[in-house]
Amino acid sequence: MLQEKIEAIKAQVAEMTADSAEALEALRIRYLSKKGEIAALFNDFKLVPPEQKREMGQRLNEIKTLVTDRINQLREQCQTEAKQANRVDITRPAVPQALGTRHPLSVVRKEIVDIFARLGFTLAEGPEVEDDWHVFSALNFAADHPARDMQDTFFVEQNEQDVTRNIVLRSHTSSVQVRTMDHHKPPIRIICPGRVYRNEAITARAHCFFHQIEGLYIDKGVTFADLRQVLLYFAQQLFGSDTKIRLRPSYFPFTEPSAEMDVTCMLCGGKGCSFCKHTGWVEILGCGMVDPAVLEASGIDSTVYSGYAFGLGIERITNLKYMVKDLRMFSENDVRFLDEFQPVH
Ligand code: DAH
Repeated sequence: MLQEKIEAIKAQVAEMTADSAEALEALRIRYLSKKGEIAALFNDFKLVPPEQKREMGQRLNEIKTLVTDRINQLREQCQTEAKQANRVDITRPAVPQALGTRHPLSVVRKEIVDIFARLGFTLAEGPEVEDDWHVFSALNFAADHPARDMQDTFFVEQNEQDVTRNIVLRSHTSSVQVRTMDHHKPPIRIICPGRVYRNEAITARAHCFFHQIEGLYIDKGVTFADLRQVLLYFAQQLFGSDTKIRLRPSYFPFTEPSAEMDVTCMLCGGKGCSFCKHTGWVEILGCGMVDPAVLEASGIDSTVYSGYAFGLGIERITNLKYMVKDLRMFSENDVRFLDEFQPVH
């Protein structure tokens, strides 16, 4: 009887497997615990006739050792397998990490800001939600100026009686000029990048928000010649040293005289092509001498100080540099588009 049971367990030992710590523990409990199968054999041993005790005792001890050894062996196997599974293979090629790219508008903004920084312009910023005073009134826009019209400006809060209490989304970064003049005395030399909003239908050529960079320089004796020289430097830094500029008379409420600046077409070099409508020139910014009324509105004595200002659209410059056909690409965040602006290593 006992002999058969011992043989049966021996056969089971040969088949024993365990692929986890849980399975091993189950084996240990089944065979080696106090109520396990080996303990049961020792109970049966009490009934063995005295003359067989010696031999049976030996066999019992053997089977106990056999089971214990087998379970220990399985435990070791399990541990080495777990170790191997956790091992780091340092020769394995790394998974490539996808690199993000800077947004093209950020690339161009930085490039423009850097050019002016080399000339001593410092960065200034202002809020996108502005009041009428900083966006229009202080910049010499008449109360009935069409730019204030609902067509162009997003009104956040409107007060019919008092135009200066109207809250708007700024429609240009010229508002930062006013904020800076409010808080700083001349000399002032700032460059102000930022987002602006206009109530326009969204198409390939217009969007309800876009980005501008405003420049302002105020000091004693600043002249139109200074403005022209700085803009020439800027255009040549941005588009190449062969670039020429031309200033055409224009009108802005906050500058007098005002001008629009063209640069030689970057595609044909000024010879004339379909891109520049065969003129050889493309327009890139508005500028002028700060109107004395604007200086006075911010408490700067226009008999002592003069200054120039200019403003340009970052999307426009980016389009000219990278020939992006559809303005909406800039705000759709399609990574296939953004991936084209991989930094050069
Ligand atoms: N604020 C003008 C606009 O949004 C751009 C501009 C033109 C800014 C002439 C200036 C300037 O500072 O002098 O169209």
